[in-house]
Amino acid sequence: MMNNAGPANSALNRRMLLGTASAAAAGALLGGCSRSALAAPSQIPPATMLRPALDSIGAERNINFGSAFAWARPGVDAGSFVNSAYAALLRGECGMLTAENEMKWQALRPSPTQFDFARFDAMVDWAETQGMKLRGHTLLWHYDRWFPDWLNAYDYGVRPAAEADRLVVEHVRTVTARYGTRIVSYDVVNEAVDPETGTLRETSLSRALGSAEAVLDLAFNTARAHAPHAELVYNDYMSWEPGNERHQEGVLRLLQGFRARGTPVDALGVQSHLAIFESGVPIPELVARQSPAWRGFLDAVVAMGYRLVITELDTRDRGLPADIAIRDAGVAAYTRGYLDLMLSYPQLTDVIAWGLSDRYGWLRTFDPRPDGVPTRGLPYDTDLRPKPMRTAIAEAFRAAPSRPAQ
Ligand code: XIL
Repeated sequence: MMNNAGPANSALNRRMLLGTASAAAAGALLGGCSRSALAAPSQIPPATMLRPALDSIGAERNINFGSAFAWARPGVDAGSFVNSAYAALLRGECGMLTAENEMKWQALRPSPTQFDFARFDAMVDWAETQGMKLRGHTLLWHYDRWFPDWLNAYDYGVRPAAEADRLVVEHVRTVTARYGTRIVSYDVVNEAVDPETGTLRETSLSRALGSAEAVLDLAFNTARAHAPHAELVYNDYMSWEPGNERHQEGVLRLLQGFRARGTPVDALGVQSHLAIFESGVPIPELVARQSPAWRGFLDAVVAMGYRLVITELDTRDRGLPADIAIRDAGVAAYTRGYLDLMLSYPQLTDVIAWGLSDRYGWLRTFDPRPDGVPTRGLPYDTDLRPKPMRTAIAEAFRAAPSRPAQ
């Protein structure tokens, strides 16, 4: 099903992107990244608003549209609701928001004995006052690279399994109980599958508890017990580009295991950090080439009874030339081809972009283009003007078959 071997450099690019680069990004998680070249908040022009909003266009088909949003980072006007121009854009386009970093263990858990909810609380309050729904990302990013340092170095004592159980249950229960029905959907577990091998990642928690499956099941069972109203999602970055076959197979095995063990998982979160790696290949050809195997993967997922969520949409443009018009057209066409395929599944009702403006996209620092030109992978440009990608999303929603109301 997923044996279409792609060009070797795609897999390589992906490894470089998701492996080595992420160590640097770990430091940037909560404020280390320097974007001093950007204008101060006061200098950002007001967003150019289009009507109807993407969320309203989606609503005609019972599709929700939303975005990640972030706390302001020191010295920079991050994609935050405290920046009034960007806040207006979020409010204008979205019906749903996800905190980009502020609900992660690194943010909420300064130490084994402390929780710090100040930032995330403020974000939840703001989203609510704007009438927007909230997704919770993430209750457990099961990947040691993104654990807080203290959790990687944790001393589980003489009864390690019991202590690991206590830690996971305490964390999931505390967060879900605090927010109750204010959070409608959780990425309970994030990125547990190693893309190179398709096996589950080991962490201090899995070693202490005895297996990664046990940790993941515990997180989902605890979330179901304490947030029975919420959609529970397994979220990962297996994508439709060549080089993702092992990752997809690993995710399918994990999803099968959840079903076999009765683990309460409602949906697969397809992060959708898309990438045009290859240069010189017409976009329709790329889309046509990648679609059959990707459909095979999605068919297998929905056949197990899972719903689908696009949780982190953006499109890397490194395979396209620097010319802005060409890049914007390419990103739009690629995103459109992807969304058309995804939205052909009635199991998909939520499309969340990983930010709305290129000014704040994480790819600028996480995966800069080799030529140093700023990436343009989000629907609005750095001056909050809509790009062809915004049109592509709107048109994909308009063309999508309607789905049942949730
Ligand atoms: C990223 C954030 O966008 C960055 O600001 C941070 O430095 C690292 O994490 N997959 C996920 C998200 O599930 O949590 C990641 O977010 C992007 C990849």
